[in-house]
Amino acid sequence: MASESASLAVYLRSNASVQREFDQALQLVEGELPAGLRGVLYRNGPGKLEAFGHRYDHPFDGDGMVTRFEFNGQSVRYRNRYVRTAEFLAEERVGRMLYRSFGTNLPGGLRTNFLRLHFKNAANTSVVHHSGKLLALWEGGLPHELDPGSLETLGSYDFAGQLQNHGDLLGRLVAPDLPFSAHPKLDPESGELHNFGTLMGKTSQLVLYRIRPDGSMATPRYVPLPALAFVHDFVLTKRYSIFFLSAVSFGVARALSGLATPVGSLSSADSAPTTLLLVPRDGSPAITVPAQPGFLFHFANGFEDAKGQVVVDGMRMDALPSAAEVRALLAGRSVNIPPARPTRYSIDPLARRCEESQLTPTKADLPTIDSRLSGRPYRHFWAISSAPEQAGPFYHRLLHFEHRAGQTLRDFAPDLPGEPLFVPASESAAEGEGWVLSLVYRAAAHRTDLYVLRPDDLGTVCRLELPHHLPIGFHGTWLSANRFA
Ligand SMILES: [Fe+2]
Repeated sequence: MASESASLAVYLRSNASVQREFDQALQLVEGELPAGLRGVLYRNGPGKLEAFGHRYDHPFDGDGMVTRFEFNGQSVRYRNRYVRTAEFLAEERVGRMLYRSFGTNLPGGLRTNFLRLHFKNAANTSVVHHSGKLLALWEGGLPHELDPGSLETLGSYDFAGQLQNHGDLLGRLVAPDLPFSAHPKLDPESGELHNFGTLMGKTSQLVLYRIRPDGSMATPRYVPLPALAFVHDFVLTKRYSIFFLSAVSFGVARALSGLATPVGSLSSADSAPTTLLLVPRDGSPAITVPAQPGFLFHFANGFEDAKGQVVVDGMRMDALPSAAEVRALLAGRSVNIPPARPTRYSIDPLARRCEESQLTPTKADLPTIDSRLSGRPYRHFWAISSAPEQAGPFYHRLLHFEHRAGQTLRDFAPDLPGEPLFVPASESAAEGEGWVLSLVYRAAAHRTDLYVLRPDDLGTVCRLELPHHLPIGFHGTWLSANRFA
């Protein structure tokens, strides 16, 4: 286990800005590349956490940089490119910060932030490939289309106008485009991609999206909310889209006036219950189910059992970390951010009841599954994790959790692994048969390595050296070679 001060120093060093864009083969430094591992790994995350000398106050604000790793069975070709959003380009042109962000106001206090409603689209949270298009995602605004090979930014993408906001004036002033979250879910049977956005207006709403396999988007569906909710991820089962509405509320007036950032305006009523919102996919009215207090950024998976009960596995925190704590962390101070722990919610939609049980006391987040089983009964997930006695929000471990056999951990301390992404050995391989890919920040070398791991015991299959370091990113996706045209 690394001490808190050592972990903090490693984390802060990993946040250094990436100054260059590369295009080169990676050096294999350990093991052998599996011949069957063929396809492209795309990942997204902030390439820098400061702009022109001003540190962002929240990791959600750093400019998105997409990385691309093409595996051909013999070697891995690497490329990284910043997403050239309109705001990124405008700031690069003038050499200073021009826009407010989700968690960072402009320097200069209220005088410079008052009623500034144009927020920066950081395009930094995830990347999805669907119907031949590669999109960089950020939950507050439009996705950005990238060339799947060169990673050149082709522009923001609104699905032929379907993401234009036709809501009330207040809503359109704040968000001329509908938000499109960074956690879309593919229905493995239909090939449809589902996603959502949270929309502010006189009545706050969830907007639900369905993108057909040909890339066309169906008319969005609107579901009214009791209040503007902070929803980062959702669960798609065969019958439902499921949202966890925690008792976290936006101080809309404070955020819009410039007194606070949107994330700084969030207030958490820790002891208030969570409302689970189950939206039937057949168009019938939404069902609400009361649940225990708590906040979840991420879900591993969810499904219906044979009796119609709904099971959801998510990473539950006691409460949302405060903006002040996150800001203090980025400024180099030790903070007490509540850990997330894998938790199962067993929901009876008819009786409107929910039972909650911890799957393991192990701290874990950024869970991923074998995506072929999205929305279906499943056995395995992988996640970043930390030791029970580890202080601070530092994840030095990876976790493999298997619902029958239990868990396996691998400790990388003092290094910092990123989201472990499972890749099946083939389309017909059994669940959990394949590889796990993770980018690991190597503390001593101040460089990042790409690990290929065995999914069961997380042992190293091989390791490749990047020519530089990457700040710890968020999410990625795998595109197998037979789908890469
Ligand atoms: Fe996320």
